[in-house]
Amino acid sequence: MTASWVSEMKALIPTLLLLLLAGCATTGPTAGLPDAEAYVLQTYVAYCGTCHGVPHPGRHRAAEWPAIVNLMERHMRTRGMIPPQQAERQAILAYLREHAR
Ligand code: HEC
Repeated sequence: MTASWVSEMKALIPTLLLLLLAGCATTGPTAGLPDAEAYVLQTYVAYCGTCHGVPHPGRHRAAEWPAIVNLMERHMRTRGMIPPQQAERQAILAYLREHAR
């Protein structure tokens, strides 16, 4: 009785490991974000995923994003973080606006 329960559980292990591994590919900081060049995603996560989770670009309208990024840059300076340089900022904003609501 007990032995068969144990062996059934053991038989499940490969399946469970597979599910776990498959799960890993869909988690992480960029999970659920619209796809983009690695540089863009990395820049976005690096600057916008430190204080809170990276927001989905579809959270706001294209016209709203510039003011939000300005506000976030103020938050960064307040906390002694260096805000993105011009090129990084442009990559982030272009990404946000392209996939905006
Ligand atoms: C220095 C910390 C910090 C960083 C870095 C940061 N944020 Fe924020 N963010 C905040 C805080 C604090 C709030 C809470 C609202 C407020 O006070 O502005 C917030 C709120 C937000 C919100 C509002 C949540 C909502 O309901 O939509 C959005 C969107 C957002 N951040 C986007 C960004 C983006 C985009 C970046 C990268 C450019 C970024 N944040 C980087 C601190 C940060």
